[in-house]
Amino acid sequence: MPLLEYPMKKLLFILFIILVISYTPSLSNSDEKKGKKEKEEEHEKEEHKRGWEAVEKKYKHFENPQVCGGCHPEFFDEWKESKHSKSFTNSAFQGMYKQAISDLKGNKEIKVDVDKCILCHSPSAYYAGDIPPTADEDKWPERGIMCDFCHTVEGIKDALPHNGNFINNNGHDIDPKRGPWKDAKSPYHQTIYSELHTRSEFCGTCHNQKNSNGVWIQETYNEWKNSEWAKEGYQCQDCHMMGEGKSHPIISKEFMKADARQKVVIHRFPGFGSQIKVTDAVRLKAAANKTKVKLGEELIIKVSVINAKIGHKFPSSSPNLRQLWLEVNAIDSKKRTPILLKIEEGKAAPYDITSNELAYKDIERDSLIEGNRIYHSIFSDKNNKHTYTFYDAAKIVFDNRLKPKETRIETYKWKIPVDTTVGEVIISVKLNYRALPQSLSDHLEAGEIPVTEVAYDEASIFVVK
Ligand code: HEC
Ligand code: HEC
Ligand code: HEC
Ligand code: HEC
Ligand code: HEC
Repeated sequence: MPLLEYPMKKLLFILFIILVISYTPSLSNSDEKKGKKEKEEEHEKEEHKRGWEAVEKKYKHFENPQVCGGCHPEFFDEWKESKHSKSFTNSAFQGMYKQAISDLKGNKEIKVDVDKCILCHSPSAYYAGDIPPTADEDKWPERGIMCDFCHTVEGIKDALPHNGNFINNNGHDIDPKRGPWKDAKSPYHQTIYSELHTRSEFCGTCHNQKNSNGVWIQETYNEWKNSEWAKEGYQCQDCHMMGEGKSHPIISKEFMKADARQKVVIHRFPGFGSQIKVTDAVRLKAAANKTKVKLGEELIIKVSVINAKIGHKFPSSSPNLRQLWLEVNAIDSKKRTPILLKIEEGKAAPYDITSNELAYKDIERDSLIEGNRIYHSIFSDKNNKHTYTFYDAAKIVFDNRLKPKETRIETYKWKIPVDTTVGEVIISVKLNYRALPQSLSDHLEAGEIPVTEVAYDEASIFVVK
C-alpha cells in the first residue's frame, strides 16, 4: 500500500530527526533541561500571544473611557469618582472573587454563578472571553463598568431585568452611542435615542440578581418596582443621576459650542459605599418620655428611623454584606463618658442585634460592639450554615431592612444609674453604615472598611436627685 507507506516513512524520519536533535551530545544535562524549559516557555508565550491577540481585539471593541473623556470631560471625572469605575478593582470584589475561584475548585456547581461575576463587574472582560481576567495584560479588565459598555446597550433579553440580561453587540467599529437625547449630533460617533437609558430597567439588569439556587441575593430593582416611588414615576436615574453635583455642558466647550440642554445627568452615582451622601436620605428622631428624670428612675427613649428619600430598601445591594446599625449613647455633662444603651433583645434575636458569635468560616459575624440594633439580611447555605457569599446562599434566613418610606420605631429603656452626675444628659443617636464587616474584609484581605455616619439626632434630659 504505497499511499500509506510514504507518509509513514516520512513520519518515522521526522521522529528520528527530533530524537537526534533532542539528544545532541554537546548539551550537558542541566543545559539540556534548561533549553527544554526555555523552549516550552517560549512556546507557551507564543500560544498565549496568539490567544491573547484575539482576546485583546475583543477588548478593543469597547472604547477606552479616556477617549470619551476627551469630549465629555465632566462625565469622565464623575464616572472616575463612582463605584462603576471601580467595580473590578475594588478590594472587596477582588477578595470575594478570589474566594469564589478557590471555592470553585471544590464545587463545580457554582461555575455558572462565578463566571457571571465578570459579566456585571467587568463586562468588557466577559465579552472578550477573558475569564478569570488576566491580571497582567494592559489592565483591560480594570476599566470596570465604563462609558462604552453602558452606552451601547441595546435592550434586555427578558421581561424582568436581572442577572446581566442586557443586550450588547459592540463590534470593532465605532458603535453608535445610545442616550436620552433625540437630537444629539456628534462628529465622532453616531447617536441613537434610547428610552431604555432613562428607565430603571436599564439599571435593573445588574441591580437585580438571583443565584442558581433561586435565591434573590440582591433585588434593588424589584424593591423599587414594588415601592410608592415607582408608582409615582421616579426612576433610578431621577435619584442617582440628578440633583447632586453641579450642572455642566454635555461636551467640553473647547470642542464645540454645546447645546443648552435642559438637564444634564451626573455620573457619580451616589451611594454610601462610595461615600457620596445624599442629604437627609435617612432621618433620625430621638424623643425621651420625660425631660426631668430622677436617679434610679427608668427613662424610655423612642428613636424613629425614617427611610425618607431612598427608592428601595436600605441597605439594598448586597444586603448580606452591608451593615446599618443604630448606636445610642448617654453622655452626662461632667464625665462625658458615653454609656452605651443596648436595645432589648426581640423575638428576632440574635439576628436583629449586633453579635460577634462565630459565623461564616468561623469569623466574627458583625465585628461590632454587641447589643446594638442592626438592619441587614442573613443568608444560609445548603447545610443551614451562615454564609457571606452569593453563590452558596440557599435561603434568606432573616431580613429586617428599612422599606422605602418606612418609619421604624425603636424603643430603649434606661434605668438612670445612681452614680450619674446630676444635670444635663445628652442622648445621642447615630445611624452608621459599613459596606461589609471588618472581620470578613480581614478574611478576604480587602483592607480597612470605613464607617460612615448616615444620620444623627439627640435628645436632652435633666437628671435630678
Ligand atoms: C447581576 C449582576 C452581578 C453579578 C452576576 C455579580 N455581581 Fe457583585 N455586585 C453587583 C451589584 C449591582 C453590586 C452592588 C452595588 C452596590 O451596592 O454597591 C455588587 C456588589 C458586589 C460586592 C460588594 C462590593 C463592595 O464595594 O462592597 C462584592 C464583593 C461582589 N459584588 C462580588 C461578586 C462576586 C464574587 C460575584 C460572583 C460570584 C458577583 N459579585 C456577581 C452585581 C453583580
Ligand atoms: C469628538 C468628540 C466626542 C467624542 C470623542 C465622544 N463624543 Fe459623545 N458626543 C459628542 C457630541 C458633540 C455629542 C452631542 C452633544 C449634544 O447634542 O448636546 C455627543 C453625545 C453623546 C451621547 C448622547 C447621545 C444621545 O442620543 O443622547 C452619548 C451617550 C455619548 N456622546 C457617549 C459617548 C461615549 C460613550 C464616547 C466614548 C466611546 C463618546 N461619546 C465620545 C462628542 C463626542
Ligand atoms: C452604568 C452605566 C453608565 C456608565 C458607566 C456611563 N453612563 Fe453615560 N449615561 C447613562 C445613562 C443611563 C444615561 C441617561 C440618563 C437619563 O437621561 O435618564 C447617561 C447619559 C449620558 C450622556 C447624555 C448626557 C445628558 O446629560 O443627558 C452622555 C454624554 C454620557 N452619558 C456620557 C458618558 C461618558 C462619557 C461616560 C464615561 C466617562 C459614561 N457616560 C458612563 C449610563 C452610563
Ligand atoms: C453592568 C452592570 C451595571 C449596570 C448596568 C448598572 N450598575 Fe450600578 N453598579 C454595578 C456594580 C457591579 C456596582 C458595585 C461596584 C462596587 O462595589 O465596586 C454598582 C454600584 C452602583 C452604585 C453605588 C452604590 C454605593 O454603595 O456606593 C449605585 C448608586 C449604582 N450602581 C446605581 C446604578 C444605576 C442608577 C444604574 C442605572 C442608570 C446602574 N447602577 C447601572 C453594576 C451595574
Ligand atoms: C427616590 C429616590 C431613589 C430611587 C428611585 C432609587 N434610589 Fe437608590 N438610593 C437612593 C438614596 C438616597 C440612596 C442612599 C445613598 C446616599 O444617601 O448616599 C440610595 C442607595 C442606593 C444604592 C446603595 C445601597 C446600599 O445598600 O449601599 C444602590 C446600589 C442604589 N441606590 C441603586 C438604585 C437602583 C438600581 C435604583 C432603581 C432600580 C434606585 N437605586 C432607585 C435613592 C433612590
